[in-house]
Amino acid sequence: AVYPLLAAVAAYLLGSLSFAVIVTRVMGLSDPRTYGSKNPGATNVLRSGSKVAAVVTLLLDAVKGWLPVVLVHWFGKPYGLEEGTIALVGLAAFLGHLWPVFFRFQGGKGVATALGVLVGINAWLGLATAVTWLLIAVFFRYSSLASLVAAVFAPVFYLLVDGAVWYAEQSIAAAIAVMAMLLVWRHRENIKRLLEGKESKLGKSKK
Ligand code: G3P
Repeated sequence: AVYPLLAAVAAYLLGSLSFAVIVTRVMGLSDPRTYGSKNPGATNVLRSGSKVAAVVTLLLDAVKGWLPVVLVHWFGKPYGLEEGTIALVGLAAFLGHLWPVFFRFQGGKGVATALGVLVGINAWLGLATAVTWLLIAVFFRYSSLASLVAAVFAPVFYLLVDGAVWYAEQSIAAAIAVMAMLLVWRHRENIKRLLEGKESKLGKSKK
């Protein structure tokens, strides 16, 4: 049982790479923890005005969720790593993003990383969740609202694509449900702002 644990630690460390901070630093932009929502995430990097930095942040934060899941999927069998470990590494990468060991445990809200995990679990699941996010974002112009709605739908989509009939799949269903709940909880300030009508819309720059 040492391999699942090692895989989980590796995934947590990878998830701890806060790419909003790293990408903006490399590109010589200001630290996203100092403006806008102060969140180290792609949405807030976009408020810096650099679409390139935001897209690169989104992709890298997603890849760090996707990679551990597909690595276990592709190469795990000989080491006895199965669905339970997929659930474990996906959750570990997500937790790394929320509480990164390299950034004093001050991380982001987990939207891009969770999406990467979902794509790794099942491409259709990832696509359905991403389309849900996009539809809400396009119609309502709130990134946070899009994330919240997508988070609620993700576990439902998982049950639709994989059924979670097997015990092993139930661990993945549970991991997705935990990610969704933590993601909503990390958006509690956003929820407050949405209810007060004070949330900043997509396409508005930093203040
Ligand atoms: O990626 C997180 C997003 O849902 C909200 O970000 O910066 O508006 O709090 P932000």
